[in-house]
Amino acid sequence: MKLSQQTILITGATSGIGLHLASKLHQMGNQVIACGRNQLQLQKLSSAHPGMATHLCDVTDEQQRRELAAWAVAHYPALNMLINNAGIMQQLDLTGPIDPARMMTELTTNLLAPIHLSSLLVGHLQGQPVAALINITSGLAFTPLAIVPLYCATKAALHSFSLSQRHQLQDTSVRVFEIIPPAVGTNLGHQDNYDNSNDELMPMADFINAVIGALQQDTYEAGIGIAEQLRQQREGLFDLLNL
Ligand SMILES: NC(=O)c1ccc[n+]([C@@H]2O[C@H](COP(=O)([O-])OP(=O)(O)OC[C@H]3O[C@@H](n4cnc5c(N)ncnc54)[C@H](OP(=O)(O)O)[C@@H]3O)[C@@H](O)[C@H]2O)c1
Repeated sequence: MKLSQQTILITGATSGIGLHLASKLHQMGNQVIACGRNQLQLQKLSSAHPGMATHLCDVTDEQQRRELAAWAVAHYPALNMLINNAGIMQQLDLTGPIDPARMMTELTTNLLAPIHLSSLLVGHLQGQPVAALINITSGLAFTPLAIVPLYCATKAALHSFSLSQRHQLQDTSVRVFEIIPPAVGTNLGHQDNYDNSNDELMPMADFINAVIGALQQDTYEAGIGIAEQLRQQREGLFDLLNL
């Protein structure tokens, strides 16, 4: 799809992939609405990119999701793309009890929030001549990394959901994309001191260019870099990933 003069709402735009994608899409001549839960980071983003809109939203909060969707449609009626990018990755020890609140935060951030936000906006998007829902999953949706088990499960579920979403929307103007990133150096997992120094990291600029290319070429399920191998070989790579 054309990637200029679109109106694009992106969650989790205050760091990492979301920050770089928001910046790139802004540079390409789109109206970007950057969302996040860190007001200071949002202010920095809008100062660095005049014209970029920002909105505070903790995606784990249902009321904030409803408010974000209503505000975005009211202020940006041309809104035609949603990028469900916000995500967290937690290490969980499955040999003992897990705090339910901790589980619920990961489940809500990575799975329930994108599903709910999509549902809040899908009616509006169907009124646009061209529209897109873009879900950011992970190569780990296809080959789990056992130390972050619920993360992998939420991404596998979001992959499954994206298939159904795409099927149900096939006769509408809304295209459903799934972007499947490889390991990219960001803050993901840093709250648990996740050490990604052994990961083969894809440079952020290469990753962002690959995402833009996938969207422009209408690659609806886009495995980027090594994530494409995980997507194709799935559990066949489990032992290799979990040495
Ligand atoms: N980096 C990778 O290797 C990799 C690989 C595969 C998939 N992904 C996916 O890519 C997406 C972006 O992750 P990233 O790597 O860029 O990590 P990141 O640097 O940690 O960025 C995650 C973003 O999500 C936001 N976020 C988290 N919880 C939120 C909440 N409750 N409400 C609103 N925003 C929230 C964060 O905001 P705060 O700064 O406020 O926490 C941050 O802006 C995620 O869906 C992740 O699963 C990343």
